[in-house]
Amino acid sequence: MIPPFFRVQVLEETTSTNEDMKKAAASGEVEGLVIWAKRQTAGKGRQGRVWDSPQGNLYVSLLLRPSCAARDLGLYSFVTALAVQEAIQKLAEGADIKLKWPNDVLVSDKKISGVLLESILGADGKVEGLVIGVGINVAEHPEKTLYPATSLRAEGFERDVEDVLEAFLNAFGEWKMTFERDGFRPVRRAWLAEARGGEMTVRLPKGQENGTFAGIDDRGRLILRAVDGSERFIDTGDVFF
Ligand code: BTN
Repeated sequence: MIPPFFRVQVLEETTSTNEDMKKAAASGEVEGLVIWAKRQTAGKGRQGRVWDSPQGNLYVSLLLRPSCAARDLGLYSFVTALAVQEAIQKLAEGADIKLKWPNDVLVSDKKISGVLLESILGADGKVEGLVIGVGINVAEHPEKTLYPATSLRAEGFERDVEDVLEAFLNAFGEWKMTFERDGFRPVRRAWLAEARGGEMTVRLPKGQENGTFAGIDDRGRLILRAVDGSERFIDTGDVFF
């Protein structure tokens, strides 16, 4: 069952569920709206990339109206990644699932899902809404990607997209409640327990950094430890192992 907080709108095809949701938000929709499309013709990924969106996978956007400050909106990406991880764990028993900063879920060290947050801010910079876009590879995955990709099917799990959506919304509802009631601390702890650590290269908007994963701070920034022991706090980047 889908938790009563959510109202799901289903589309056979759209350009991007995030774009649809931003329009819905602008016309005054209240939080809890979920737009689910069977395929997208212009799916958007992080940092201006394209998100391949053929039939067979989950493409969904959620509308929240958080009461937090704009600088804390990014923390919802960890809430979302944990919910995706939990949903996959439920549907792919025994799979090797890890979280990759900031909000990817890996199965067998390959990317199975992505999260794209888009903030809606008023002219005064106050938070008016948050669109959380989630793609989960259920039956298909792209071949030529920045980071190797996989799907539930490729990992040996035949699942219905509806079941993935239901598992995700249930887990998301729980983690959202925890975050909004108890703050980032329990989310951070749970995220760190599932994180893929070790040596990594982080591609930054300008250049790259190498080091060892040393956690995330209370603002969700990646902590990267260099060989000389110094620590760098990173806001934006792509992690490679
Ligand atoms: C990433 O680059 O990892 C983020 C991918 C986010 C894709 C989802 S699919 C549903 C929603 N609509 C979009 O256009 N993008 C997000």
